[in-house]
Amino acid sequence: MENDTLTITDNRTNKTYTIPIANGAVRALDLRQIKTGPDDFGLMTYDPAFMNTASCHSAITYLDGDAGILRYRGYPIEQLAEHCTFLEVAFLLLNGELPTQEELEKWNQAVMQRTMIHENVKKFMDGFHHDAHPMGILISTVAALSTFYPDARILSNPLCNRKQIVRLIGKMPTLAACAYRHRLGLPYVYPDPSLSYTKNYMNMLWRRTEPTYVANEVLARALEVLFILHADHEQNCSTSTMRAVGSSNADPFVTTAAAIAALSGPLHGGANEEVLRMLDEIGAIENIPNYIAEVKAGHRKLMGFGHRVYKNYDPRARIIKRVAEEVFEVTGRNPKIDIALELEKIALNDDYFIKRKLYPNVDFYSGIIYQAMGFTPDQFTVLFGIPRTVGWLAQWQELLQDPERKIARPRQIYVGQEVRDFVPITRRAQVEMAAV
Ligand code: CMC
Repeated sequence: MENDTLTITDNRTNKTYTIPIANGAVRALDLRQIKTGPDDFGLMTYDPAFMNTASCHSAITYLDGDAGILRYRGYPIEQLAEHCTFLEVAFLLLNGELPTQEELEKWNQAVMQRTMIHENVKKFMDGFHHDAHPMGILISTVAALSTFYPDARILSNPLCNRKQIVRLIGKMPTLAACAYRHRLGLPYVYPDPSLSYTKNYMNMLWRRTEPTYVANEVLARALEVLFILHADHEQNCSTSTMRAVGSSNADPFVTTAAAIAALSGPLHGGANEEVLRMLDEIGAIENIPNYIAEVKAGHRKLMGFGHRVYKNYDPRARIIKRVAEEVFEVTGRNPKIDIALELEKIALNDDYFIKRKLYPNVDFYSGIIYQAMGFTPDQFTVLFGIPRTVGWLAQWQELLQDPERKIARPRQIYVGQEVRDFVPITRRAQVEMAAV
């Protein structure tokens, strides 16, 4: 449209500039022409934590945080969670379309054939301390896969890139299961490519001495749905990390390891673990008002609440709440659900949360389900990382194909010392520094 422009008057110079608006955004580089003089660098935008900056064009995930809408490649998350398998959704995220029956069979086979890990991976897995956090193990072992697949460094061949994508999706549950069993001192279970993605994972986690482990159908489906809900979420902290590291042409294994590291933080994927700790700390429904008072006083956060983008009920949390009831039919009710439901009820009626538009997010109920299924809290973020690997890789693949791709390199606003002369050590004043 002709009028899709922004006119800016620089009051420092009284000059006026007209810059184009496309897709509701102006290009930050268009501001560079706004200068006070020839030596001026030009106007920049300042946006710590990227609160209002789009860093890419993407056709993968659509999210409307105000309306509580989430779609993968145009399909509502609710429909995908109801009708698809996780690998079907993975195909959709990576290829843009849902697979035909034949394509799905081939894709399932390709992924499941890549579930095996090199025996040496098991050796360094053994080197971790018995109580090593599984996210630390996952970050390290995924990064280490890079050394087993040197072809991953060649990014110019899309077929070769695709091979690494399938490898990563295939091996992630195997690594996660090894990390789980390492903690328990149990021998690792080899993947079984004849099983579905989630049933194979469950087999590698929980098989003991029985000749054949038979996964419970309801629990396997619940895991499948949880994986679908976690598969992508556009430019969140870990995905932005994936794109930032990937922009340097680092190989996909180390790049994914960086994304897992970002995910592990308690403000991001690590929140599901923290929710369980919080519910443990609250202990009983009668303690909720005191806890809420502490949150409102700013002494703590209500974990699993709030979101940078959702200013409405997270649609994933709504589905997870329903899945929880199905899981409890099999496992028995996790009593923490009652504390969580009451916490949600009180919070959603409290001015503090209403004013700030704080609603339960995906992490609020997922941990309760995982615990009922038999996972310990330190495994929860791993359960986020396995499916999110698909989203990271879809975004990485899109990045590689982006004609505007350049190495990520933000600017800064320097607020330090002006130039000054070196001071010899005998003439320096004492400064108070943190103890070393
Ligand atoms: N409990 C209490 N107050 C909160 C919470 C919370 N969970 N989240 C935000 N607030 C308050 C915050 O103190 C601020 O209040 P004020 O305006 O008085 O300073 C206001 O709400 C706005 O918060 P913000 O910190 O500016 O929001 P943000 O967009 O920077 O942070 C967030 C988003 C998810 C990091 C934050 O809501 C949070 O820390 N939540 C708890 C951790 C959590 O559940 N994380 C999982 C996110 S969803 C899964 C994922 O994608 O990783």
